[in-house]
Amino acid sequence: MEELVREIERLKEERNAIILAHNYQLPEVQDVADFLGDSLELARKATRVDADVIVFAGVDFMAETAKILNPDKTVLLPVRGATCAMANMLKVEHILEARKRYPNAPVVLYVNTTAEAKAHADVTVTSANAAEIVEKLDADTVIFGPDNNLAYYVAKRTGKRIIPIPEGGHCYVHRKFTLEDVERARRLYPKAKLMVHPECEPEVQEEADLIVSTGGMVRNACQHDEWVVFTEREMCYRLQKLYPGKKFHPAREDAFCIGMKAITLRHLYESLRDMKHRVEVPGEIAGKARRAIERMLEMSG
Ligand code: 13P
Ligand code: SF4
Repeated sequence: MEELVREIERLKEERNAIILAHNYQLPEVQDVADFLGDSLELARKATRVDADVIVFAGVDFMAETAKILNPDKTVLLPVRGATCAMANMLKVEHILEARKRYPNAPVVLYVNTTAEAKAHADVTVTSANAAEIVEKLDADTVIFGPDNNLAYYVAKRTGKRIIPIPEGGHCYVHRKFTLEDVERARRLYPKAKLMVHPECEPEVQEEADLIVSTGGMVRNACQHDEWVVFTEREMCYRLQKLYPGKKFHPAREDAFCIGMKAITLRHLYESLRDMKHRVEVPGEIAGKARRAIERMLEMSG
């Protein structure tokens, strides 16, 4: 492992590369990353990179977003099939159909979407800024996809009429959390507070002390000494490393995102060695998707 880390560091310098990683990555991948963050922080960071090469330790839509924002840089996704099941649920037809039914409603898409879908959005959002951006839009009815649970959260926060697309859009990792997990957390850790990702089911959100993106978890963990964490399990590694004096318990050990966990240190090494797998987004799609992503970055505080 140490040898691999050394080789990664050497290749990073040789290629003038930077490793951006999401908070759900394997511990050893988090440890070699130059920058760790949630989807919004990673998209922002991608606009401020000097390096020639961005190695993206995350899932495909995140690497695509980095490429869309940096058309002239090389963006590498170490494992080609590292994907987000929820992002793949929303098809362009769902968007066109919703636009026909609600012609005056803006289309707000979670960044967890394909580049093709983003090309049909008025603005993208992440879990960190979805409520803020929907609030700012000059519309009372908003088409929102693909996460129905984030749509519930946004509707509750903004009081606006949210039309969720597609029917049943969800994240299989966050759908695992139930009220039984809430009860168990309260029984096992009576002093702990519950931090919950807004991709969790509404009944779990209702029990939360804090509903935030993974970046929000990092920023808000200072508020209390013990937490039960309702999101992908590696979030606890990130939090524990940042706050060694506090306690973080994963609400479920099996909350495991297959796409995020596809990337290992060896993949990072091979990616830098062979300059693979290059992320490409066709020009016309990239141009339209960029407008929606840049609008998000402008509107988000
Ligand atoms: P964050 O932007 O909160 O990190 O969420 C990304 C994600 O895919 C959650 O499942
Ligand atoms: Fe997608 Fe869920 Fe994995 Fe996040 S945890 S990347 S929403 S499948």
